Amino acid sequence: MKKRLLFPGVATAAACAVALMIAACGSGDGVNAPTDPDTVADQRAAALVAQMTTDEKVQLVHGTGFPVFSLGGPFPPGVDGAGYIPGVPRLGIPGLAMADSAGGVNIANFGATALPAPVALAASWDPQLANAYGARIATELRALGYGEGLGGGVNLAREPRDGRTFEYMGEDPVLAGTMSAARTTGTQSQKVIATIKHYAMNDQETNRFTSNSVVDERTMRETELLAFEIGVTQAQPGNVMCSFNQVNGIFACENPYLLTTVLKNEWGFKGVVQSDWAANHSTVAAALAGLDEEEPGDLGSAAGGLPGITFTSYFSSALKAAVTAGSVPMARLNDMVQRKLRTMIRYGVFDSPPTSGGTIDQAAGNAFALQVAQQSAVLLKNAAPTGAQQPVLPLSGASLSSIVVIGGHADTGVLSGAGSGGTPAINGNAVSGCQQPASLIFGGCATWYKSSPLAAIKAQAANASVTYFDGTDANAAASAAAQADVAIVFATQSEGEGFDLPSLSLPNNVVDPYNQSYDQNALITAVAAKAKRVVVVLENGSPVLMPWLGNVNAVLESWYPGVQGGQAIADLLFGNVNPSGKLPITFPQQDADLPQPAISATNLTVNYSEGLMMGYRWYDAKQIQPLFPFGFGLSYTTFAYSGISASTDGAGDVTVTFSVQNTGTRAGAETAQVYATLPAGLGEPPKRLVGWQKVTLQPGQSHQVSVSVPAKLLSTWDVMKHAWKLNGGAYQLIAGASSRDTNALTTSVTLAGH
Ligand code: GLC
Repeated sequence: MKKRLLFPGVATAAACAVALMIAACGSGDGVNAPTDPDTVADQRAAALVAQMTTDEKVQLVHGTGFPVFSLGGPFPPGVDGAGYIPGVPRLGIPGLAMADSAGGVNIANFGATALPAPVALAASWDPQLANAYGARIATELRALGYGEGLGGGVNLAREPRDGRTFEYMGEDPVLAGTMSAARTTGTQSQKVIATIKHYAMNDQETNRFTSNSVVDERTMRETELLAFEIGVTQAQPGNVMCSFNQVNGIFACENPYLLTTVLKNEWGFKGVVQSDWAANHSTVAAALAGLDEEEPGDLGSAAGGLPGITFTSYFSSALKAAVTAGSVPMARLNDMVQRKLRTMIRYGVFDSPPTSGGTIDQAAGNAFALQVAQQSAVLLKNAAPTGAQQPVLPLSGASLSSIVVIGGHADTGVLSGAGSGGTPAINGNAVSGCQQPASLIFGGCATWYKSSPLAAIKAQAANASVTYFDGTDANAAASAAAQADVAIVFATQSEGEGFDLPSLSLPNNVVDPYNQSYDQNALITAVAAKAKRVVVVLENGSPVLMPWLGNVNAVLESWYPGVQGGQAIADLLFGNVNPSGKLPITFPQQDADLPQPAISATNLTVNYSEGLMMGYRWYDAKQIQPLFPFGFGLSYTTFAYSGISASTDGAGDVTVTFSVQNTGTRAGAETAQVYATLPAGLGEPPKRLVGWQKVTLQPGQSHQVSVSVPAKLLSTWDVMKHAWKLNGGAYQLIAGASSRDTNALTTSVTLAGH
């Protein structure tokens, strides 16, 4: 393997210093001055590093507290996000404020838009929408004074009970990586530094600060690291956040393999490796491994920390001492600062630092939130009631005379996720009375946005009598449903950072007393037993089990649908919008079907014993029937696939073409997916996603889809050469509407391999 520089940034800085001299006083013609933004950023940063004192350098590589918890500071007004790094006025270096922004800016009281959760965005399978999502959030970050957004989680749903599943982008590396790259590009197009996190294998919340993810190299590279590789190499995020956990016995933020060998040397990452908050445990080990910034950093005289976390700074005075002693070379400190400055320059926050006090265009934010919610909902079931021909959805507002709406606080709002990946409710929580337990770091109360599905449903069926039952009396709700034309039951599953779900079963008043005060499965079962028509609407971040599925006519998956969720749900139920989402994560039939039967509360070793067989690959390899497969989603129209063929160039890149036709009676969008089965004997799962295309078609319209599959996505990781390997042999290509489409088209292509 080619010898790589240990600190590539250092070489760049030195070279740039030389280049500067040449450009400035060598040929003197100036006309050869570089123009490409990367080189310009590198050179400008190097020139600044050369002028900085050691104290100034150390100041730039650690935060000064956790402002949103008023730990540390002082901070400029309004810039009280998750972290802050003061600037160096002497050199014109501005300060940099950062805020959490998974699905919107996680800062209260400034009107930030709560978009549908990232898992919903993933369900849209629309990279252009992801780009706009990242840009929208960045616009609002800048308006509030933040130059760096801390959203962008791509940890894969190896464990769907992970309490942060809502914050991430599902179980497949190609979908998550591609959508994350698009989101990153959108954010950085608005002069905000984007983050991809949590690097890496941070796939459950239980014991997250100390657990050790034990995972073999090939599994890492072909699953979660592939998501990061796609995101980093396609979009060049300015910030990669290393995670709390250990990976194969070494904390991620001091792990040379992850931070230098893979991220910096192999993928050419030129940005900043930033620790998660209090995820740094050392000075020399972390600095030499490749950590570039410590957060929240030096709290100064601020209070100790939050329950369960203590903040110790290893990158302030301790780092200066280590550099002075020579245990951390000055070249490494220079590289850390070079990375920070070139990132700030490259993505525009240096030359036009955001200032706080701006205003947010809430109308624009709401319009976009509605669009995302409409595009990401997944229609899981839509059957005709007994004795009828037409499926129960879409509802016809004009012809309904009575509707019963039940449960899920549907009279007041829609659910969101908790923790740093949440977005505060602008006008206060729609659901009051929740007792916030002190134990959870980010609280046990869910956030509910004031976007009432009930009100939106009423508006769609102006002539119908629409009544609401809160779900606490299942019998009363069921009796009312028996008299109504249709019953719409809302089911909710709250989750958040800091804890995992005990089960994928819908929470009841035992498991989730803060948000549900009744047994949701029992309620749905009771209503389904008596209703003429029953529709279930899900508001959730992880998959849910559905013991009542056979007894209901329709299920609409709305995820955490954001600040316009009520309107979006009504638009979808009444057909103003045709559902087009597809599952980014498998819904299993039971917890026991999951790769790890239970999440251990005591065993700090998290064994990735399933290896490559994670997500849908697990169910395929084990021949377990899921409740709903990865990539599944219905429409109010139908589509037919035909005419598949595949061709390859000499380098192993493959192009798969086929036609998709709208064979129904209304326009709709279809995400046509392409999977590959690799040659036998490689130890690979039965299939892997290698590409897709989302096409909108009018009734009767046909479109030829062409999906390009780069050789890398057909490759396996060679643990002897530590490199991707395209194996020779016959590859099967599958085009279909989901990962388990019985009508999928197949073809094959033989590759020479290299
Ligand atoms: C949290 C999260 C991380 C977040 C950071 C700042 O612990 O793990 O995603 O960006 O701290 O709030």
